[in-house]
Amino acid sequence: MAQQEDVFKKIVSHCKEYGFVFPSSDIYDGLGAVYDYGQNGVELKNNIKQYWWQSMVLLHENIVGIDAAIFMHPTTWKASGHVDAFNDPLIDNRDSKKRYRADVLIEEQIAKYDDKIEKEVEKARKRFGDSFDEAKYRETSERVRETQEKRDALHERYQQVMNAPGGIDLEGMKQIILDEEIVCPISGTRNWTDVRQFNLMFKTEVGAAAEGASTIYLRPETAQGIFVNYLNVQKTGRMKLPFGIAQIGKAFRNEIVARQFIFRMREFEQMEMQFFVKPGTELEWFSKWKETRMKWHQNLGFGAENYRFHDHDKLAHYANAATDIEFRMPFGFKEVEGIHSRTNFDLSSHAKYSGKKIEYFDPETNESYTPFVIETSIGVDRMFLSIMCHSFEEQKLDNGETRTVLHLPAALAPVKLAVFPLTKKDGMPEKAQEIINELRFHFNCKYEEKDQIGKRYRRMDAIGCPYCVTVDQQTMQDDTVTLRDRDTMEQRRVKISELRGIIEDQVSITSLLKRLL
Ligand code: GAP
Repeated sequence: MAQQEDVFKKIVSHCKEYGFVFPSSDIYDGLGAVYDYGQNGVELKNNIKQYWWQSMVLLHENIVGIDAAIFMHPTTWKASGHVDAFNDPLIDNRDSKKRYRADVLIEEQIAKYDDKIEKEVEKARKRFGDSFDEAKYRETSERVRETQEKRDALHERYQQVMNAPGGIDLEGMKQIILDEEIVCPISGTRNWTDVRQFNLMFKTEVGAAAEGASTIYLRPETAQGIFVNYLNVQKTGRMKLPFGIAQIGKAFRNEIVARQFIFRMREFEQMEMQFFVKPGTELEWFSKWKETRMKWHQNLGFGAENYRFHDHDKLAHYANAATDIEFRMPFGFKEVEGIHSRTNFDLSSHAKYSGKKIEYFDPETNESYTPFVIETSIGVDRMFLSIMCHSFEEQKLDNGETRTVLHLPAALAPVKLAVFPLTKKDGMPEKAQEIINELRFHFNCKYEEKDQIGKRYRRMDAIGCPYCVTVDQQTMQDDTVTLRDRDTMEQRRVKISELRGIIEDQVSITSLLKRLL
């Protein structure tokens, strides 16, 4: 685990050093849980968004896109339930004046018990060597059993307070924190306030105060922009059920536990698709979308073993099925995408609050009804982080050196081809520029002439550039160059006229999309 934490720290500093992700307003020492994407980060992020957008809108005739405003009529959030129920349970430590999520404090306590058990098991494994029987050890070791019992009892109690009939039992939560003797990591004391619910939406005001300013919210999800446009799109696009509306855009949440870099941010980006279906067919569509979305993830080639579904046992009152797609990050399996069968809750609620009839007239059955919705919702930034985590490698080479390489899927890499003149003379820089001038219309190219070739290769490995081309003396005679592959580091001699044909297919989003069909 400690080793994985080190790797994660290295990934965070790599992101900064190579222009992928910077802390927001860095010169002012940053702003908590807000980040900026740099020159390479924005390219990778745009490629992720393109891969998602095209897989939705190009590959499905019945899915169209929109781009709704971030500000929405305040009643939207009343209707969606966010004003009343988009809360986190928070607790303050009176000595340090620090605020924590009470549920997270308890989950961390459960994780501490888990860690303790794992440590015991690992110690025993070392002690007994090949003859170690883990299952038997877990059953018979008194220390492990005791810790396991404490852990299970806490887990059970936690489930009870979280699922209490009238909503989360806030007093019960505080009692757990006291009984478990959880201390504030800053002050080290147990001087806790009561647990209170805290709404995650950011508020601001629209209009000048004199005119009667009104409170509006920065949207905490993009989905509501789709629901309020359902009628507009269905009518103007003459859409027939089933059909989907896709959107990519910023969302804002006043997250209190802001850790793990871009995993949990206060300003982030979502790619959401609401798929409207006939009532009664939603569970069939739910499983189709589960499969389609998992295929989209696994198509990147990171290995099926690094993904899993986490089906929800406890469902929101309006959902009749929900699952997360989790990816193996250095800090464990974590949610990257949510797939929810949201029934007709949102459309019905907007109909009620707006007074508009939000229905679909089914020409096949001559009846009108409120469509049901399957939602696929993925965070761009979490997707970005999962790709970075999986691609990052500090590789030991045969000659004893180490190189840092990002094995990014070529279609997502910020730069696809780097072109180097071997030296800055004999017409080589001009030839290299000529190659770039020809290829830049087809994919992102970069020219580099500083430092020796080895260093230039390393810089390109570190930003995940899949191909490097070197222009040398021979190029000037026969128009061939060396083409180096990032992952194998193998070099081969190819004709300049063949470069586009060799590279384009490997680095295009189309190559990824074709594998989805
Ligand atoms: N419309 C449904 C919805 O918003 P969610 O599970 O709250 O559902 C969907 O969010 C996805 O948005 C998550 O799976 C995650 O990838 C991303 N996400 C949510 N909160 C985030 C945050 N604070 N920072 C970064 N990404 C976040």
